[in-house]
Amino acid sequence: MRGVNPENPGGREVPAPKEIAQALERRVLGQQQAVREMAIALSKKLAGLPTGNILLVGSSGTGKTTLMRAVERYLAADPTLAHRSTLIRVHANVLAATEGPPGEALLVRLLDRAREQLGAQASTETLLERVGHGLVFVDEVDKIRSRVAGQPNPAGIRAQEALLTVIENEAVPLTLPEWAGGETVAVDSSGLLFVCAGAFEGLYDAVFDRVTVGRDRGALQSVTVMGEGSGELREELDFHLRDWLRVEDLFDYGMTPQFLSRFDAMVLLEDLSEDDLVRIFLDTPDSGLAQARVYFASRGIELAISPAAVRRVAREAALQPRLGARALKEAFRRVLHEYEFEPERHAPAGVLMLDTDEVERALTGA
Ligand SMILES: Nc1ncnc2c1ncn2[C@@H]1O[C@H](COP(=O)(O)OP(=O)(O)OP(=O)(O)O)[C@@H](O)[C@H]1O
Ligand SMILES: [Mg+2]
Repeated sequence: MRGVNPENPGGREVPAPKEIAQALERRVLGQQQAVREMAIALSKKLAGLPTGNILLVGSSGTGKTTLMRAVERYLAADPTLAHRSTLIRVHANVLAATEGPPGEALLVRLLDRAREQLGAQASTETLLERVGHGLVFVDEVDKIRSRVAGQPNPAGIRAQEALLTVIENEAVPLTLPEWAGGETVAVDSSGLLFVCAGAFEGLYDAVFDRVTVGRDRGALQSVTVMGEGSGELREELDFHLRDWLRVEDLFDYGMTPQFLSRFDAMVLLEDLSEDDLVRIFLDTPDSGLAQARVYFASRGIELAISPAAVRRVAREAALQPRLGARALKEAFRRVLHEYEFEPERHAPAGVLMLDTDEVERALTGA
């Protein structure tokens, strides 16, 4: 179902959240909540309706950047959508490094992007209108903490200030580049949509400590469980970050209250299970398997891998939860290593078959 843009009733239709989510799910597996929040925000944005900013929090390698890139591709793939949205994706620490008034660099990037999209003949007025309604994806936002190891972090403070200046501000001064006349104008940036993402490494432990031995000691109660097989009773702590994470934990992490108050939704990404890893390995277009297939095909060889071998790679990757799905590529690279140099030698009849023996040998050296 597509709806009509109320600001542009005669114009093109706007895709519904469900349609957007289905497109994003081709590249982002699992992470339903994050995909849905993103799809709803995007649908509203494309309809010209107000929508709140989103903060994505999730362990390394769980799909935050993948989700942002999926949105970029989704918008770029459809000329009608690309034509009504200007999107930039930046690394948060770039904001600390830039010169000039806080926030201006972001607006300049949006302006450049709008010009790329609309062409050099577009009027400055049109371009500025696009800038004021753009989408800004800020990745690695956890790298701009206001404090690091108990010390103030000036670069982080500067970057958070830069973002604050442009989030929900009705008059941000912008000195136009030479090609646009060079004068200083005021940009209403209250129509921008911000999606920020970060891994916030250490947050899990910090929150766990808070509810077990720290400020809220005793909040997390252990439960009695019966040991499998033995039948013995033991005490266990069943901790899920989702149940306990509060905005205050992000203050403690070094994000300022003013900054955090600009987000309507804080979305936690799930940690990936072994089953998720199997699906990511088999079904995503950028997976290590997909890339290997392309390489071997370029050498005239078909790569085949048994389900048990896939499972074995996923199990190996799951041993490194800190890397998330990145561990898949790392593990699979170890497997492929000995086949990539001279694939023909291992591919009688043009097929390279990887089964558990091959994978086991590569992973364990056995
Ligand atoms: N949910 C997912 N669906 C599909 N692929 C995923 C998913 N999570 C991770 N991946 C794959 O794992 C790799 C790393 O993912 P990504 O860059 O999105 O991680 P991230 O959450 O941004 O991590 P970091 O916090 O370290 O930047 C990518 O190659 C991506 O293809
Ligand atoms: Mg990332």
